[in-house]
Order: sequence, then C-alpha cells, then structure tokens
Amino acid sequence: MTNELLDDIDGTGVDLVESLAYPLPVIVIAEMLGVPASDRGLFRKWADDLLTSQNMDFNDPKFVEEAKEKVRDLDAYLLEHIVARRKQGRDDLLSKLVEAEIDGEGLDDGEITNFSRLLLVAGHITTTMLLGNAMLCFHDNPEAAADVRANPTLLPSAVEEILRVRSPFLFSARITAVDTELAGTPIPANKMVAPWLLSANHDERQFPDPERFDPHRDPNRQSGFGHGIHFCLGAPLARLEARVALAALLNRFSDIEIADPAAVVYRESPGMYGVKVLPLEVRR
Ligand code: HEM
Repeated sequence: MTNELLDDIDGTGVDLVESLAYPLPVIVIAEMLGVPASDRGLFRKWADDLLTSQNMDFNDPKFVEEAKEKVRDLDAYLLEHIVARRKQGRDDLLSKLVEAEIDGEGLDDGEITNFSRLLLVAGHITTTMLLGNAMLCFHDNPEAAADVRANPTLLPSAVEEILRVRSPFLFSARITAVDTELAGTPIPANKMVAPWLLSANHDERQFPDPERFDPHRDPNRQSGFGHGIHFCLGAPLARLEARVALAALLNRFSDIEIADPAAVVYRESPGMYGVKVLPLEVRR
C-alpha cells in the first residue's frame, strides 16, 4: 500500500501529508475496522472537528457537551455499520466486537460505537503526525538522517527518538482519585490534571542532552504512547506503519528535502503536535 501511494509522487511541492502520511494510516485502520476506506474524506472532517476544540477546560461541563455534539455524525455513521454487522458478520474488527462475549455478556451498540470511534480517530491522525514529525526531525538533523539512511537497522530506534523529541500527543488527562501532592504542589481529589508527555520526554534527569536528536539513543524510555494502564493500544501498529513508511521513503528517494519551510502548515489542535501540510522536494 505504501509503495502504491509513493508511485504517485515525484518532484517538487509534493505534500507528504496528502500523498502518504494521511492516507496510509487511515486506509489501514478503516480496513481493519471494516468501514470503507473511500469514506476517508468524511473521517478527516470529523476528526478535525473533534480535535480543534479551543475549550480545553476539562472541568467545564460545556467541554463535554461540545465534544458530544462534535461526534454525533461520526457516531451515527459507525452505528449504521455496527447494526449491519449484527445482521451479518464479516471478517473485520467491527464484527468481532459485535460477536465478543465474556461470561455470556456482549457489548452494546453504545460501547462498540465509543470504542470504534476511538480506534478510528486515534488510529490515523496520530500516525499521520508521527510521519510528518519524522521529516521535521530529519530536516533539522541532516547528519542523523544520513546515518539512518546508511543504516536502516537504526529505523526502530529513530522512530522512538522522533516520538520523544516531537511527541504527537503533548499531554494526557487524568482525574485524581485522592488528595495528592506532586513536586510540592497539592492537588485535591477529583480534579482533572494534564500530565505533559512532551515535558517528560525532555526531562534531563531521564535523557542526557534531551534536546539532541539521537537515533542511537539507548535506553530511550520515551512516553509518547503514554504510560500505565492506558498505554496506547495501537503502539505496535503505529511503530510498524512508521517503520514501513520511512523505509519505503528512504529506499525510493535519494533526496528528501522540505521544499519551503515557510510553506509548512502546523495543526492547530491543542495538545497535539504535527503538520497538516508538508511540501517536500523528492528525487528518485
Ligand atoms: C504515533 C502514533 C500514536 C501515538 C503518538 C499515540 C499516543 C497515544 C497516547 C499518548 C495514549 C494514552 C492516552 C492516555 O494516557 O490518556 C494513547 C492511547 C490509545 N491509543 Fe494511541 N497513539 C498512536 C497511534 C495509535 C493507533 C494507530 C491506534 C489504533 C489502532 C491507537 C489507539 C489507541 C487507543 C485505543 C488508546 C486508549 C488505550 C486505553 O485507554 O487503554 N493509537 N495513544
């Protein structure tokens, strides 16, 4: 699939997001779930609407109301597919979710809608950002990029370093279960807090010379996929997609440059870090 997408690109002004970083992960997750990948224009609009909320006050009831409103159409779309799978299963994840049972208890439509929405949204935007961020890291660090190109076995650790230096998800969110204290700051129970993954990833107590992009970094306990019981379910898929896509890009093009750094457009979603438009100059 990556090779097919790359077949269409050559020359100057190629937008990496449009031609590879967006379609690749969205086609993969849509096919896994069992919704038509050709509807990806719709997924993009819904995901963008959902992720561009300017109100990030989790403790504000309006935040929840707004979020519910924003997922209405996406949820209705998913529910249609779920209802169809209840009538007739296929070989896809939606059918498996419909059939799944533990001790005779299955998931209801609302639960499957919630989970498949999370998979569909989390399953593509993030990897899109990771691929764009990879190009930014390589652009800023040409020597390290040349090193990776010369030693493709470095790709897996380069991907970890990209996730550390330019983490697609800047922070996560938790509710305190009890009164607690963090680095001398008291936090009452039942408050929403936002632990910064990017900050953890640049903590000099954990990463010597944290601003340096080093694809050899070992150990690299980066927190780009979160931490603890909610650690990213899609991490192995995201890592695989990044390795496949970056290997194919490096293989196919002897030269990859950001055509015009001023033309790069960044995503304006609070808490997310990545590009929306990334014009490249590539040479086969
Ligand atoms: C580079 C790509 C990705 C990044 C940086 C990323 C990042 C994250 C982070 C930081 C969390 C934890 C959120 C929290 O602690 O509150 C998370 C959770 C999650 N991610 Fe990813 N993700 C990526 C790709 C994916 C993919 C491809 C999928 C699906 C196929 C996916 C599905 C999920 C799910 C379902 C959760 C929730 C897990 C749970 O709550 O137990 N992610 N991701």
